Amino acid sequence: MQLNILVLPGDGIGTEVTREAVRVLTRVATRYNHTLNLSEGLLGGVAIHKTGQAMPDETARLAQDADATLMGAVGLPEFDNAPPAQRPERGLLGIRAILGVYANLRPVRTYKALIDSSPLKNHLVEGTDMIIVRELTGGIYYGTPRGITGEAPNEHAVNTMAYSRHEIDRIARMAFELASKRRKKVSSVDKSNVLETSQLWRKVVTEVAADYPTVELEHILVDNCAMQLVLNPRRFDVVVTENMFGDILSDEGAVLAGSIGMLPSASIGGKRPSGAWVGLYEPVHGSAPDIAGQNKANPLGAIGSVAAMLEYSFGLMEEAAAVNRAMEAVLNSGRVTADLKPPGAPATTEQVGQSVCEAIG
Ligand code: IPM
Ligand code: MG
Repeated sequence: MQLNILVLPGDGIGTEVTREAVRVLTRVATRYNHTLNLSEGLLGGVAIHKTGQAMPDETARLAQDADATLMGAVGLPEFDNAPPAQRPERGLLGIRAILGVYANLRPVRTYKALIDSSPLKNHLVEGTDMIIVRELTGGIYYGTPRGITGEAPNEHAVNTMAYSRHEIDRIARMAFELASKRRKKVSSVDKSNVLETSQLWRKVVTEVAADYPTVELEHILVDNCAMQLVLNPRRFDVVVTENMFGDILSDEGAVLAGSIGMLPSASIGGKRPSGAWVGLYEPVHGSAPDIAGQNKANPLGAIGSVAAMLEYSFGLMEEAAAVNRAMEAVLNSGRVTADLKPPGAPATTEQVGQSVCEAIG
């Protein structure tokens, strides 16, 4: 099979973890006789430096042409005080929007080998296996009006959280489809005791549920969900929620997995003019400037995102399973990065990538 993949390493540890993810992808292609066509593009702070834009037109074009895009991370501390429109993060929001990838799938599971890496008690986290389905192209991230007006001391800032029925319907269907192939439970997270967007959310999700009679639906308020995630994470199978709630809850979910460096994600749902699906694959973690360039970031979130790409964009289930098995073997070997607090000396980013390749064979 021909795999045309755009790689956007981005900023900070994005470049390091993406290098290992590409190493693994290359190994898979060789081992299973696929032809890999890689292109590379600019996104985020590095793109602002080189072109003045967080998502250059060239990157948008490359992403539209590729079968799938692998992204590292965006964000640089020098932009900490810049307005949202001029920040590296805007590049990521831009590429999600142009690809139309409205569903961000963030699996959260605990690996046996990592049970002690979580700060939570073992009996609480053991056996956790959920997938957070985050709406990715709507809500307060994109709503207008937005901005800051006025001069001190009268400045005024506004953001808009908006959802239409169609946006809720399609993400709900994604969640129910996933749940029907898993433990058949959807937890829909909202704040319907306060927000109108959440009231519409709850109504539409309830309607969609009628089409999936074998799947159980519960509605849960976001504050309670945040608590239940650490009190009783095993109760969750598929969690579906709007953009910002999903952003926040998935970082919390990282605590269950042992480290945010472990979490992969797949952003899917968009279609190209040809009708083909597009996918954007990115680890959940950020650019981590504090450890960038030191060869110590955990590449497993990025490598797990490669597995997700093989599965969702290319339907290569055996290859995806091989990557997941190899990751598990590396975790069991204990040769992991410092964030996972291995008993001995931690492995480097590169060593972990190489070990995954060796385990693939
Ligand atoms: C994420 C990140 C991004 C988001 C940032 C970098 C814009 O936190 O993917 O979770 O908020 O979506
Ligand atoms: Mg986030």
